Amino acid sequence: MDNHSLLSLTVALLGFLSPCLTRLTPRVSFPMGSPGRHLTHFSSHDVSNTTTLLLSEDGDMLYVGARDAVLALDVSHKDAIILRSKLDWSPSEKDLEQCSMKGKKMADCPNFIRVLQFLNTTHIYGCGTFAFSPRCTYINSETLTMSLKPDEGRGRCPYDPYQRNTAIIVDGELYTGTVADYRGNRPVISRHLSEGRRVDLKLDDTLGWLEDPTFISSSVIPDEEKIYFFFSEVGREYDFIDKFIVSRVSQICMSDVGGQRTLQRRWTTFAKAQLLCQADNELPYNVIQDIDTLPPAEGAPADDTLFYGIFTSQWSVNSGRSAVCSFRLTDIKSVFSGNYKVLNRDTLQWSTRVQEKVANPGECGLHNASDNALRFVKENFLADDSVRPVGRSLTMVSAEHNYSHLTVQRVQAANNRDYTVLFLLTESGYMHKAVLLQSGAHIIEEVQVFEQPQPIKSLKLSIPKGMLYVGTSDGVVRVPTANCSFYWTCPQCVLARDPFCGWDPASRACVAASNTQTSLGQDIDRGNVEEACNSVSLTHRARFGPNKLPAASCPAGELVSVSLNEVVRLQCPAASRLSQQLWERPNSRLSPDLYLHLEDGSLSFVATPTTLGHYLCLSTENGYQQTMAIYQVKQKSSPVAQTPTSYTRPPARPKPTTQAEARPGSGLHTSVGPKRTETRQGKTEPTLSSRDTQVTTRQLGRNLTLWTEESGQNDSGFRDGEPLLSARAPSYLKELVVVSVLLVLCLSLLITMLLYVIRQRCRSRTAPQAGTPTSDSDRRTPVEQEALRGNQFLSKRNGQAPRSGQASGLVCNGALTGSNGHLPNTPI
Ligand SMILES: *[C@@H]1O[C@H](CO)[C@@H](O)[C@H](O)[C@H]1NC(C)=O
Ligand SMILES: *[C@@H]1O[C@H](CO)[C@@H](O)[C@H](O)[C@H]1NC(C)=O
Ligand SMILES: *[C@@H]1O[C@H](CO)[C@@H](O)[C@H](O)[C@H]1NC(C)=O
Ligand SMILES: *[C@@H]1O[C@H](CO)[C@@H](O)[C@H](O)[C@H]1NC(C)=O
Ligand SMILES: *[C@@H]1O[C@H](CO)[C@@H](O)[C@H](O)[C@H]1NC(C)=O
Ligand SMILES: *[C@@H]1O[C@H](CO)[C@@H](O)[C@H](O)[C@H]1NC(C)=O
Ligand SMILES: *[C@@H]1O[C@H](CO)[C@@H](O)[C@H](O)[C@H]1NC(C)=O
Repeated sequence: MDNHSLLSLTVALLGFLSPCLTRLTPRVSFPMGSPGRHLTHFSSHDVSNTTTLLLSEDGDMLYVGARDAVLALDVSHKDAIILRSKLDWSPSEKDLEQCSMKGKKMADCPNFIRVLQFLNTTHIYGCGTFAFSPRCTYINSETLTMSLKPDEGRGRCPYDPYQRNTAIIVDGELYTGTVADYRGNRPVISRHLSEGRRVDLKLDDTLGWLEDPTFISSSVIPDEEKIYFFFSEVGREYDFIDKFIVSRVSQICMSDVGGQRTLQRRWTTFAKAQLLCQADNELPYNVIQDIDTLPPAEGAPADDTLFYGIFTSQWSVNSGRSAVCSFRLTDIKSVFSGNYKVLNRDTLQWSTRVQEKVANPGECGLHNASDNALRFVKENFLADDSVRPVGRSLTMVSAEHNYSHLTVQRVQAANNRDYTVLFLLTESGYMHKAVLLQSGAHIIEEVQVFEQPQPIKSLKLSIPKGMLYVGTSDGVVRVPTANCSFYWTCPQCVLARDPFCGWDPASRACVAASNTQTSLGQDIDRGNVEEACNSVSLTHRARFGPNKLPAASCPAGELVSVSLNEVVRLQCPAASRLSQQLWERPNSRLSPDLYLHLEDGSLSFVATPTTLGHYLCLSTENGYQQTMAIYQVKQKSSPVAQTPTSYTRPPARPKPTTQAEARPGSGLHTSVGPKRTETRQGKTEPTLSSRDTQVTTRQLGRNLTLWTEESGQNDSGFRDGEPLLSARAPSYLKELVVVSVLLVLCLSLLITMLLYVIRQRCRSRTAPQAGTPTSDSDRRTPVEQEALRGNQFLSKRNGQAPRSGQASGLVCNGALTGSNGHLPNTPI
């Protein structure tokens, strides 16, 4: 079998294995224009392609590289982004003419600013493509005026505006990765603006230093005096796979001044290694899309610096998916200090040959080294080992979202522990905020940043201001990193598991954790509401301590008057996308013959004498249960409620849908979902199910706001709803307890069985966060089996703790199990 067919077989096999993935659902979603997340836009009719962003250190000024212009935006105001000054920098008519004569499209000939970096306290260094003839210039950051003589931009900025590049200025010197010619086939990593004995340096033209790279990013580690470049390129060492793309990290030393005879004006410290974002038995996510540096925590050594990257796959089995991997600086350093591959110049094949080390490639301070040593480092620049991700596993995998940009922040939570928060952008225009927990990633929220999908060009995080800036072709959008006041209640605040937010019992508000000294209700790791809010889950109250119920006026619930044989549909608002809705009836079982649980959480049934009565909709999330709605279904003809309820339905509230359909009840369980029924009858109904509808209910006296998914009408009349309930009708409590206990027992049995089945199926592949050591071989060594067993033990333990925080369901072979895993007090 040749290598190609072997590869395709592997691909096919791995594709077959991959469906067992953890599903990551954002807990809440803020669609465009929702009041819970106030976005600020900047755009102007004469400004376009705002693609390069540079934030001032204090976070008050944002410099933007646009088409034919550099802008200074004042971002220190809460409500608006103000254009302070604008520098026009466009090619002359003659330049444009020449550009189009060379066969370039006129639309690509303007000056697209691609480098914008602070040079010193008074000046910015900027470079643009300038009609396919790149130029650079010094810009006064105060007045935004340009120095008179522009610099040559070759090697500093790409010619073609569609080519990616990277640039960073350290100590007044510019380090860049870009293509250095008009055709775009001479990639180079180089240093410019060096003075005195320090000369400008670039890569030698040696074969294989760079192979058609796409530059992603560069980062300086001051303690190491090194600059790291991140890019993807063709992996020639995998010569049996055609055009196999690999992701790379490469390094150069800032102290480098080139060799004396050999490697004159060339790097003597360049080395590169593969970055491997791959989990056990899976195809690698081989194409790096973006990477950000997380500096070590205060007091920790530089070696603890982490790099978080987004990777996608070259193969169609993983198309549309993306993975996040993190790499530790120590691991990168140890790969660079290891062995190097050797290129056979005749066969152009790479091999691992153990040879005598004449010098240490990648080592700083080789400028006085012998020619022999320099020749050795010139030939040996590809590290033999690959840099593997932290924990040898993927940090996060998303099957649904194609992330393109990320930025990362370390956030100190109320318990003084540090948590890593990722801000991820999808091409479809959403920002996901995820916190990394022991149990995996938890997506706290999703914010729609754009109406239309569009390529994101850059992303900048201002930690002091708590703002995120997104640059696209159309303008700049500012997104606050958190809005704690969105969570009205302590349970909502705690269930969000947002390290930025905590519940302040004194002010009875969800507040920013960084601004508060008092102890806050917060539980990032487990999201345990009962402990963090000092409150008892409604379930417990109802089931184990009915006496504790306030004996206050208990409303009988929302009154729903129906005629017999009418199809009734009761709505249940979701507490969040991770919550699970559950219907209960005080004195009878909800038989599947009579009741239809619809996908949106609502309950549908035909009104018959047996189905009249009370209905409770409960929402369970992470082991915490709250009542979302109580309904009392009554027959129309009977006199109006004997018990005057303290409840009145506000006019615009979505009503429980009743459809005057005189169908025999027997027909119901064959009925397919409400939507079809509607169209058949040509009726529209104001329903809560129209997702994207803003739903505000007052819950236990406090407000709760949330958005549900799908597009629908933005009915906000729901806002001022009266208290949905304050407690349950006491007369039904006993029965309720019995029913609840029975229900829980049934459900736990069912879930246990389901989990068992899934575990059996997924045993070969645990979720990406599992700390199993990676091994290239499919065969498990005894060590690995041991580790796997350890894993099972771990998940068992997690399963026992009702709020272990595994907020996501498990998708296995397309089957979706309950999105919330387990119910409170359910032994698994
Ligand atoms: C935060 O959320 C609250 C409640 O939805 C809203 O009134 C406020 O404007 C939001 N603030 C920001 C900065 O988005
Ligand atoms: C500039 O923006 C336009 C849309 O406004 C887009 O079509 C074009 O591709 C952008 N050019 C570059 C070089 O990004
Ligand atoms: C910053 O660099 C510019 C350009 O080289 C120079 O004119 C200016 O004097 C420098 N400013 C400071 C404070 O060094
Ligand atoms: C995912 O995003 C990358 C980079 O933005 C893009 O090149 C790729 O085509 C996208 N893949 C899918 C399936 O949308
Ligand atoms: C390198 O050699 C030159 C003279 O050959 C000497 O002046 C210089 O100090 C040496 N540098 C180092 C770092 O040893
Ligand atoms: C829905 O929102 C859009 C803008 O987002 C607005 O134009 C429209 O009037 C709103 N409709 C209702 C029914 O509130
Ligand atoms: C909660 O809703 C009530 C209306 O029922 C409103 O008056 C109040 O301002 C809301 N609370 C907050 C914090 O917005």
